[in-house]
Amino acid sequence: MTHRNAHFKTLEDLAAKSVSIADLFKTEPKRMETFVMREGPLRADFSKQSISENARAALLSLAAACDLDEWRGKLFAGDTVNTSEDRAVLHMALRGVGGSKTVQKDVTDMGKKTAEFANQIRKDGKFKAVVHIGIGGSDLGPRLVADAFEAACDRVIDLRFAENVDGASINDALDGLDPKTTLVVVVSKSFSTQETRMNAEAARDWLTKSLGKKAGAHFIAVTANRKGAEAFDIPPAQIFDFWDWVGGRYSVWSAVGLSLQIAFGPEAFAEFLKGAKRMDEHFRDQPLDENLPVMMAMTGVWNRNILGYTSLAVIPYARRIRKLAAFLQQLEMESNGKSVTREGKAAGLTCPILWGDEGTNGQHAFFQWLHQGTPGAPVDFVAVLKDHANRPDHHAALLANCFAQSEALMLGKAEHKVRETLTGRDDIDADAINVLAPQKTFPGNRPSTTITLDALTPFALGHLIALYEHKVFVQGVIWNVNSFDQWGVELGKVLASTILGEMDAGETGDHDPSTTALMGLLSKTA
Ligand code: F6P
Repeated sequence: MTHRNAHFKTLEDLAAKSVSIADLFKTEPKRMETFVMREGPLRADFSKQSISENARAALLSLAAACDLDEWRGKLFAGDTVNTSEDRAVLHMALRGVGGSKTVQKDVTDMGKKTAEFANQIRKDGKFKAVVHIGIGGSDLGPRLVADAFEAACDRVIDLRFAENVDGASINDALDGLDPKTTLVVVVSKSFSTQETRMNAEAARDWLTKSLGKKAGAHFIAVTANRKGAEAFDIPPAQIFDFWDWVGGRYSVWSAVGLSLQIAFGPEAFAEFLKGAKRMDEHFRDQPLDENLPVMMAMTGVWNRNILGYTSLAVIPYARRIRKLAAFLQQLEMESNGKSVTREGKAAGLTCPILWGDEGTNGQHAFFQWLHQGTPGAPVDFVAVLKDHANRPDHHAALLANCFAQSEALMLGKAEHKVRETLTGRDDIDADAINVLAPQKTFPGNRPSTTITLDALTPFALGHLIALYEHKVFVQGVIWNVNSFDQWGVELGKVLASTILGEMDAGETGDHDPSTTALMGLLSKTA
């Protein structure tokens, strides 16, 4: 048995002996101290997880046994943590934490350049709209943050996004805009992504048709591949750089956030960076047992590896962060959705499926499954305490729903209680009660974490996103996978390119019968 396996065995033994979550509150009087953690405006309550104090200690021992301290040190020191791509991982340097002198200087210089550019655009007043073109990490972060900033910041410019290669995406983004007053920001780390290049070409055609040679001044790029952007005829002065040590899904903090700076102002963006910096410092400096990202990560390990849950639901009870699950799907599943270790060996169970939608909407859709389905899923509830919509009654109802759901998942409703409510009714006999009672029973003991932000400010949002980023890092260490590459997205891209080439040439190529038939459908509908 390996060192790591011995720790997993201890955890499995603890799980086998464990009592219900509700009972843990009775047997562990300090639970609300041990399992509730705060950093600045962010409070995380892990007490409704089915983790006893002993299990928590054992999880932290597992983390220590996986050399988490050493890995954390390597990350912040700028070591080559992304081994398969031979790169350091330094998105924290974008927030002013870590990185060499050169890295810090590059970050500061680019920060000044983007802020100046954004201020100038805001001051000139010539542009009324920004169309941000990018996909994956070049889209999901900016899109989530743009929505969230609406809560507490003033937006002076219309901000649109186009990501999908489906023509409807760029059509919708350009719809109703005047080319004379539109700035197009093309964001692509590689500058080779099919969707982004096609949308950028469409936007350029749209600009050129009405502005001719003047279109160039309406087109800027953000990329780690300057040459690629130049080859796309974007003038060097209109290219904003970021670097290969910033992973796409960790890039919103870089010049990738330029559209946000233009729309909401560099000050709001600086607050966002500052919030993330606080979480970086917390993660870097706090011991494992007082460390929020570590607790969150180890909770996920318990739910996945010990209790066997296959998914994690993330439910923001805040409309302005309704895209949180979409953002986290890339962050978590592209980072840790791996089945091979850093050493090229088979890994055990890794990243669960992450999914979710905004509360309360989800309550009227998939919450039935969360409460009574098999096997259910742990939930991260995310709520904002301040009412940014200026509707206190709505806000109270929203939060009441959020708090009620975690309570209901934990307590459930026992069959004998259901029977009590049915017994004695004239319209239902004993046989019918036997049929109905089990169906109206809630098993309960379903785990959740509730994260609250005091307010949905850029500062608080920075905390929230950085928390999940570091959680992902910790889980990657426990599962021994490289959280910073994404080889699994390549095969589909290559095949799509082959199929597109064949369709353009009117060929069928060499495919399986199903794929050949699908390709044939296109010529029949033409
Ligand atoms: O889908 C894979 C991926 O490489 C993501 O990792 C990345 O965020 C996205 O495509 C977009 O890539 P780029 O920013 O290079 O256009």
